[in-house]
Amino acid sequence: MSGRSIFLNDVPPARNELLVDFLGSPVAHGRIKSVDLSAASKIPGVVALFTHLDIPGHKYFGSILKDEHLLADETVDHIGDPIVLIVAETRLAIESARKTVRLDIEELPPILSIDDAVAAGSFIGEQMVIERGDVLAALNQSEHRLDGSLSTGGQEHFYFESQTAIAEPGESGRMTIHSSTQHPSEAQQIVADILGIPFNHVVVICKRMGGAFGGKETQAAVPAAMAALAAIKTHRPCRIALSKDHDMRYTGKRHPFQSRWSVGFDSSGLITALSLELLANAGCTCDVSPSILERAMFHSDNAYYLPNFRVTGRLCRTNLPSNTAFRGFGGPQGVANIENIIEEIALYLGKDALDVRQINCYGIDDRNTTPYGQRVENNNLPRLFSQLRQSSEYDRRQREVEKFNAASPTKVRGLSMTPVNFGIAFTSKKLNQANALVNIYTDGSVMVATGGTEMGQGLYTRIRQIVADELGIEFGDVIVAPTSTDKNNNTSPTAASSGTDLNGAAAVDACRTLRERLAEFAAPLLADPKTGLVPLPEQLRFENGLVCDSVQPEQFITFRELAIRAYQERVDLGERGYYATPGIEYNRSTGRGNPFSYFTQGVAVSEVEIDRFTGQLKVRRVDVLIDAGQCINPGIDRGQLSGGFMQGLGWVTTEELKYSSRGELLSNSPTTYKIPNIGDLPEVFNLEFLENSASSVNLLRSKALGEPPLLLAVSVWTAAKQALSFVSPAAANRLSLPATGETLLLAMEQTKICSASHAGIQV
Ligand code: MTE
Ligand code: MOS
Repeated sequence: MSGRSIFLNDVPPARNELLVDFLGSPVAHGRIKSVDLSAASKIPGVVALFTHLDIPGHKYFGSILKDEHLLADETVDHIGDPIVLIVAETRLAIESARKTVRLDIEELPPILSIDDAVAAGSFIGEQMVIERGDVLAALNQSEHRLDGSLSTGGQEHFYFESQTAIAEPGESGRMTIHSSTQHPSEAQQIVADILGIPFNHVVVICKRMGGAFGGKETQAAVPAAMAALAAIKTHRPCRIALSKDHDMRYTGKRHPFQSRWSVGFDSSGLITALSLELLANAGCTCDVSPSILERAMFHSDNAYYLPNFRVTGRLCRTNLPSNTAFRGFGGPQGVANIENIIEEIALYLGKDALDVRQINCYGIDDRNTTPYGQRVENNNLPRLFSQLRQSSEYDRRQREVEKFNAASPTKVRGLSMTPVNFGIAFTSKKLNQANALVNIYTDGSVMVATGGTEMGQGLYTRIRQIVADELGIEFGDVIVAPTSTDKNNNTSPTAASSGTDLNGAAAVDACRTLRERLAEFAAPLLADPKTGLVPLPEQLRFENGLVCDSVQPEQFITFRELAIRAYQERVDLGERGYYATPGIEYNRSTGRGNPFSYFTQGVAVSEVEIDRFTGQLKVRRVDVLIDAGQCINPGIDRGQLSGGFMQGLGWVTTEELKYSSRGELLSNSPTTYKIPNIGDLPEVFNLEFLENSASSVNLLRSKALGEPPLLLAVSVWTAAKQALSFVSPAAANRLSLPATGETLLLAMEQTKICSASHAGIQV
C-alpha cells in the first residue's frame, strides 16, 4: 500500500546484464519460408539472435497439451507469435534488430472468430458434456419454452507489471530465474525442458507480482524461458520486461464465449429444463482452456437447481494469442449466461426477475444437488437473497425505478440482483496440494516459505498472520520468504482462489508439528515449583509470545527463551508441512462427482442509469453481501471484494477487445481499452459480510474470496438489460456482454428503427 514494493524490473541491472526481447509474426497465420538474421546480427549492441534451431531441449510445452512453441518453427499462429529472440546491450539495438531481421512468410487465411472456427471445423480437443435427466423430453413437456443466444467478450488482465523475467546462469549448467509468475514450479519445469536440463538445475523465484489475475498462471513461463535460453547461450544475466503495449498485444486474455440455449419453465418461472451449447474462443493453443471451459460448464447453474440439464462445451482454435486463465476462470461466462436466461424468463412472464431467481435457487434440504452430482452443503443462498432483498430495499427501489422510467424522457434505470455460488478447489485434482517450510530461529523469530505467490491479493500477509497465530507470537516476528522452487517443490499455481486455503493449511500443519515438539520439550521446564508436577504437553498454550501451562498460567516460558533452550538441547526447530484437500473426486468421463471442496456464496444488487441519447451507463448504487466464513483478515477481504467487483464491472460494461480483420489487437493501450477508474465507482457501494458464518471444512473456518466477487458484477449487466427492457423487450434481448455505451445505444436505436418500420407496415 505504501507504493514501495519492488517489482522485478525495478531491480537494478546486474553487471554484464543483457536485454532480451523478441520479433513476432506480422501475420496472424502463415508458413515461415525463411528467416535472415545476417544484417541484424551486425548491428552494434546486438549480442545474439536465436531461432527455434537454437533450442537445446524440447521445442514444445504446455500444461495440458504440449502444443506451444517458444519460437515458431514452421508456422506462425497469431500476430506477434515469437520467431526470433533478440539479445542485446541496449533497447535501441533491440529496436533496430527488430526492423532489420528479414522474414519471408507465406500468409495463410486466419481464423479469428468463433463463427470462423465453427465454419472451418477448427477445434481443440473433443466436445465436453455434463447432463442430468432427459432434457429434450423435459423441454418438450414444459409449459413455456424460450430459445436464445448470448455472446460474452474477452478481457485484458491489465496487471500493472508487465510480464518480466531475469535469468542468471549459475555453475555447472544451473539456472536461477526471477520471474513474475503465479506458478514458479511450472516455469521451472518448462525452462528445464526447453534448456534440456533436469528440473533440479533450475530455481524459479517470485518475490511478488504487480498484479496477475490469472495472466501469469501459465503465460509467465514464456518470458522466463526466453530469458533462460538467452542466459544459457550467452553466459550472462538476461532480462526481459515487455512494454505495456507489447504485453497487451501478444499475451492471452479471458476467453470470449458464445452460447445457444433453450429453456423450459412453468408459469411461476420455475425452470424445468435447460439445454446449453457453449463455444469458447481459445486462441491458437490449448493452454488451460479445457479447464476453463469445464468451469464455465460447472457454473452454468450458478445458484439454481436445474432438474433436467445438458451443457456441451467446445473449444475453438483461432489465430489469436492463446486465451488463458482470468479471475473466475470460465465461471463468469457460465454465470452471465444463466443470469441472462433468468432475465429472459422474467421478461417473458412479466415477473420480477428476483422472484424468478429465488424460486429457482438451490434449496437447503432438497433441490440442492448440482447437475454434476455435488451437493451444495451448508447452503446460505436463500438467506443471502432474502437478507439483501430487505437490507437493500430492493422492492421499494424497484417501484421507484419503474416510476422514474415512466417519467424520464432522457434516462432509463434498471435494478437487478444476482448471486454467485463459486466452487472452490482446482478442478484438476493433483493441484489441490501444498507444502510449507517453517523455520524457527534461536531468537524466536520465524520464517515461513510456501509455494503460494503474492500478487497483491494479500497471501503473504495472511500466511504471516496464520503462522503467528499458530505459534502464539507477534505478526512482526514472522516473515514470509520469497516464493522459490528450491524451498517448496512441485507446487501448484496460486490460482483458483485457493492460495490461502492450500498454503495456509500446509503452514498450519508445519506449525502444529513444531508446537507439539516444543510442548513436549517445554513441559518439564514448566513443572510446578512447589509440587514438582510436570504439566501434560497437551496442556500447554502458545499465546502472546509465551508458552504457558493452561492450568497454571503463571508457569510460563517466553517463546524466545524456549527457542534457544530447545536449540541447545538439540530439538529440531524446523518443519515441513503438507496439505491435500480432502473429498475431491470428479469423474470426467461420467461428468459426476465432487470437483469442489465447498462453495463461496454471495449476492449483489446493482442499480444503473443509462442515457438514452448517448448510451452512457452510470452505476448509481451497489450492495454486496457475501459469505466469506470467518474472515482471516477483514481488510484484505474487503479489498478483494471491492477490487474483484470493480474488475467484473469492467468486463461487463466498458472493456472491449477490438481486432482488425487481420487479427491485430486494436484496443492495445489504456487510451483505447477502458478499464474502470475511480470515477466509475458506484456512487453508493455497500459491502457486507454475512454474519455468524463459518466454513465447516476449510482452514480456520474461512472461505476463499479471490475470484467470487468478480462474478457478482454480472448484476450490473442484468440491471442494464432490465433498463433496456423498459425501452423495449427487443432492445433487452439484443444486449450482448460487455454492455458498452455503443452496444447500449445500438440496442436502443435498432429497436426504434424496427418499431418505426413496423409502424410503416401497419399504415
Ligand atoms: N488480487 C490482486 N490484487 N491481484 C491479483 O492479481 N488475482 C486474483 C485474485 N485476487 C489477483 C487478486 C485471482 S485470478 C486469483 S485466482 C486469486 O487472487 C489468487 O490468490 P488467492 O488464491 O490467494 O486468493
Ligand atoms: Mo486465478 S484466474 O485462478 O489465477
